[in-house]
Amino acid sequence: MAAKPTKIAAVRGMKDLLPPESDLWRFMEEAARLTFGTYGYREIRTPVLERTELFARAMGATTDVVQKEMYTFTDRAGDSLTLRPEATAGVCRAFIEQGLYSQGQFKFFTLGPMFRHERPQKGRFRQFTQFNVEALGFAEPMIDAEQIVMLAQLLDRLGVANVEIHLNSLGDDQCRPQYKAALIVYLEQHGARLCDDCRRRMRENPLRVLDCKAEGCKQIAEQAPTISAHWCDDCRAHFEEVQEFLEAAGVKYTVDPRLVRGLDYYTRTTFEALAGDLGAQNAVAGGGRYDNLIKELGGPDTPATGFAVGVDRLSLLIDAKRFGQSGPDLFFVAVGPQARRRAFAEVVVLREGGLWVEMSSADTGLNSQLKRANKLGAARVVFRMEDELDRGVITFKDMDTGHQEEVLAPSLGSMKNLDPVLWSNAYCAEMVLMRSLFDDAVNDPSAFEQKAKRLDNPMGKRMKIDHQD
Ligand code: HAM
Repeated sequence: MAAKPTKIAAVRGMKDLLPPESDLWRFMEEAARLTFGTYGYREIRTPVLERTELFARAMGATTDVVQKEMYTFTDRAGDSLTLRPEATAGVCRAFIEQGLYSQGQFKFFTLGPMFRHERPQKGRFRQFTQFNVEALGFAEPMIDAEQIVMLAQLLDRLGVANVEIHLNSLGDDQCRPQYKAALIVYLEQHGARLCDDCRRRMRENPLRVLDCKAEGCKQIAEQAPTISAHWCDDCRAHFEEVQEFLEAAGVKYTVDPRLVRGLDYYTRTTFEALAGDLGAQNAVAGGGRYDNLIKELGGPDTPATGFAVGVDRLSLLIDAKRFGQSGPDLFFVAVGPQARRRAFAEVVVLREGGLWVEMSSADTGLNSQLKRANKLGAARVVFRMEDELDRGVITFKDMDTGHQEEVLAPSLGSMKNLDPVLWSNAYCAEMVLMRSLFDDAVNDPSAFEQKAKRLDNPMGKRMKIDHQD
């Protein structure tokens, strides 16, 4: 006997997205597209695979992401490729390669999966999704502030509270080298208490020590000198202006002089949105200015700023049950061959109009079809039975109230002309009142208009019921 095939599991740290969570994700995406669109960001889609060198140069060869977390492989042509761990490098590569800089400034957003080989835990995955925005060619502090306001607005639109925006400036080529030197002197004094990783990176990348999660390093970081004492006049003025714009927009933030980022390309403004409810992986978004990156990637000198939202973490802050439709608008219980064919035609019309309509695929009898309607959480049931077909009537049941009523069957033609949402509402939700409304629609158009207005129903005017097919 052949052995039973073994089951194949998903890759560790990568997950399936099922309803109702997938409804929430669609909602988050729509909110992001709407929000970014109102600030003039247009969509860019770059490949998920890029040359390894792009990330090593963009993110910094000594960062954890580049040293330990990239999914890198050699393809059949012998090229070293990497699944993108973030979007910024790819967007900048496209900006340079497509010669977009010749057209001046660009605001781009991109939505999609990123890959980092980290240890999976709550809010940390190996494949995760970012909403990412980049403003290329903008040097002014207003844009830094505008992006933070946009992030706050997106969180607000999604009903996410309990998030704090932390803000810092990492200085620039003028002032950061002095700060780094001062930090190295301080860290060398405490070298013995630093973790192995930090002892190694202390000289090449001392700012990373400030972000280490090891207890000893955290204590040392608390007393470390901060960059604010070293800002040059230009960086200080830039940072002050960012804050003035944030205050003008009424967005709350906390200046956090120890905020550093995990990627090396940042200059001046950096920020993170930290959520109280997420535990250790509490950064729901992060970003900042990167005025040198495009030049370092071989493009012209182009100031830029951006951020990314971690969508998996964002989803943990929103109750998925609030989103998406839990069940169909209508379920057709249809018994008997003639009735089922007629029901099928009606279902097609209603779906064309945008309603979610279900009908049992087999003629399993009234009770079993009703059970299925219940299981799916249908809002209303439409009965289509052979004897009712002969009498030209149709029965509706509101599944919430249990109210059931037989009404004259509308013709397929009039169903096509009606707004289907209204059609089902008319017969089901407000059955009694709407019944008389329908009669008026046929007999007395002016009374109908009045009642339709009373119901505050903008579609009312389009109703004209005809009961013959
Ligand atoms: P990042 O801070 O590395 O920045 O990532 C941004 C956000 O992505 C984080 O705040 C977090 O919410 C989410 N994230 C990162 N890693 C994971 C993971 N393993 N699992 C789940 N979520 C994760 C960047 O990626 C920059 N490219 C942002 C940027 C754009 N800066 C300028 N422009």
